[in-house]
Amino acid sequence: MAILEKHKILEKNATLLLVFSFLVVTIGGIVQIAPLFYLENTIEEVEGMRPYSPLELQGREIYIREGCYVCHSQMIRPMRDEVERYGHYSLAAESMYDHPFQWGSKRTGPDLARVGGRYSDEWHVDHLMDPQSVVPESVMPKYAFLMDRRLDGDHIGDLMKTHRLVGVPYTDEQIENASADFRAQADPDGDWDAVLARYPKAQTRNFDGQPYLTEMDALIAYMQMLGTLVDFSTFTPDASR
Ligand code: HEC
Repeated sequence: MAILEKHKILEKNATLLLVFSFLVVTIGGIVQIAPLFYLENTIEEVEGMRPYSPLELQGREIYIREGCYVCHSQMIRPMRDEVERYGHYSLAAESMYDHPFQWGSKRTGPDLARVGGRYSDEWHVDHLMDPQSVVPESVMPKYAFLMDRRLDGDHIGDLMKTHRLVGVPYTDEQIENASADFRAQADPDGDWDAVLARYPKAQTRNFDGQPYLTEMDALIAYMQMLGTLVDFSTFTPDASR
């Protein structure tokens, strides 16, 4: 009862109520916000993760532009049904270079976090051109126009600089060679060794089968990379965290 009596004093004095409310909100705010400044500590570093190659980054831009995330998630939850269907649950580190992240909130289609390597490039081309030709009951729209939209990669370095601004550790060397690497990754005559030295495990080939670089190449390069950077046959979670 005594506490309630004291509370009456607060309730009857507007200024005092304001001061105490402010105090409560401040403490609550600090408790919620302060840990965010140490967020980096909560992301376990994982071997194999690297910033996206220029072509993959462009593919990711197309993925976002076309709203693929509206129907597809990129986050495998640590639940048995998901792990059995899609593979190892997603790690925070796997989206550490994603700005913005592509976790998504709805699965009209399957999760794509580990779609890399699951299908051939030809399958992806056919599927994106006309999803119903491979999966008759699919409700996915056609993206055939990606085959006709050519890319030159002239400005990809600017996009990488923007990502560097928000924390992706692109080196000066990577940015200087951005356009060259962009073109080389999908060009059978390109300098694949250089691309691989800067972006280990990058997949180098002509993705859409056409003699020139298109948005189809970039999108498929991005999808074939998804979930392939971390080697889960050797990965063990850090138990000290
Ligand atoms: C309207 C919802 C919708 C949108 C938008 C959409 N998809 Fe899909 N997607 C689906 C559905 C449904 C399936 C399952 C049937 C199928 O394979 O077509 C699917 C399947 C897929 C698969 C095969 C996944 C697997 O594991 O079998 C890939 C890859 C894919 N989509 C990529 C994309 C990309 C890339 C985009 C954007 C360019 C996109 N989707 C946009 C609905 C969508």
